[in-house]
Amino acid sequence: MEYIKTIYLKDDKLFILDQRLLPNEEKYIELKDEKDVYNAIKNLAIRGAPAIGICASYGVYISLLKYNYKNFTEFKTKSKEVINFIGSSRPTAYNLFYCLKRIENIINSTNEINEAINLIKSEAIKIHNEDLEKSEKIGENGLLILPNNPRIISHCNAGGLATGGGGTSLSIIYKAKEKNKNIFVYVDETRPLLQGSRLTAWELKKQNIPYQVITDNTAAFLMKMGFVDLILVGADRIAKNGDFANKIGTYSLAVNAHYHGIPFYTAAPISTFDFNIENGNQIPIEQRDKFEVIKFSDSIVAPIDSDVYNPAFDITPHNLITGIITEFGIIYPPFYENISNLIEKVWIK
Ligand code: MRU
Repeated sequence: MEYIKTIYLKDDKLFILDQRLLPNEEKYIELKDEKDVYNAIKNLAIRGAPAIGICASYGVYISLLKYNYKNFTEFKTKSKEVINFIGSSRPTAYNLFYCLKRIENIINSTNEINEAINLIKSEAIKIHNEDLEKSEKIGENGLLILPNNPRIISHCNAGGLATGGGGTSLSIIYKAKEKNKNIFVYVDETRPLLQGSRLTAWELKKQNIPYQVITDNTAAFLMKMGFVDLILVGADRIAKNGDFANKIGTYSLAVNAHYHGIPFYTAAPISTFDFNIENGNQIPIEQRDKFEVIKFSDSIVAPIDSDVYNPAFDITPHNLITGIITEFGIIYPPFYENISNLIEKVWIK
């Protein structure tokens, strides 16, 4: 299956598919420096936890190429500044910090400017390629939990647009399609920025996977009518006890799935796990601009001076999760114990 090229580096220039324009226009834009990278991540031109991390890694590389340095100390000071700046673009998705940490570690492994720059480039490419492989493995591992003829609710976009490969939770759907499984997806539109209807539906249509777009508030009724076999979502940050942050509305899906006895899975690579935190209360939740809610496309849909509460993510507690699908396999309860078993193997300090 051919996946969307969400991000690429060509002749030391960084390009991304501008996701703000989808599904109406497929346009690649160049990100020329750390300000472009910061804005692209902040304004969701590129979004989805793994894709943000990949973009940030390449972003450090192309930004550091622009400057002249008198010596390594000056280079190191600038690299710290660029890493911190790009890292301040969005607070919730852990992949951003995981990838920037890897870039920082690689810089610390040398004291020569040209070598450092080359190492950053190869580390960014490695992060990108690894993500592609992780998507494949998550997809294959996820096949194990699919019943026959599954009808699945998806939320936000955890597909090719959000990763370096086919996605996390959508990768499972793509693998099922490759195996000729009869699969059907209910696509939550995902208010306020419609990553479901704009992006997931666009991806599924491209891959010829049958779907219906639903408003977010339709999901519970579909469950009640017995039309849903499984909920499959992505994750932005997973704590040591399995609590996880994902797009706002994920928690409602989990509560409704629990009530109706429907399996609820999240899929994510290990780079989404934050082994520094014990539980979901410690995950920073991004608050976004009130106009994302007050405006719908170009129309004003609430009194313009309304006060708005607009968290981009919510936390789903581990007791509502059936399993976490990773590139290493599926993690089941007890989550604290089973996630801890992974820590020593894979943690980047
Ligand atoms: O605000 P977004 O669009 O970056 O939110 C994205 C999500 O919540 C995704 O579900 C998550 O990043 C997983 S992407 C594989």
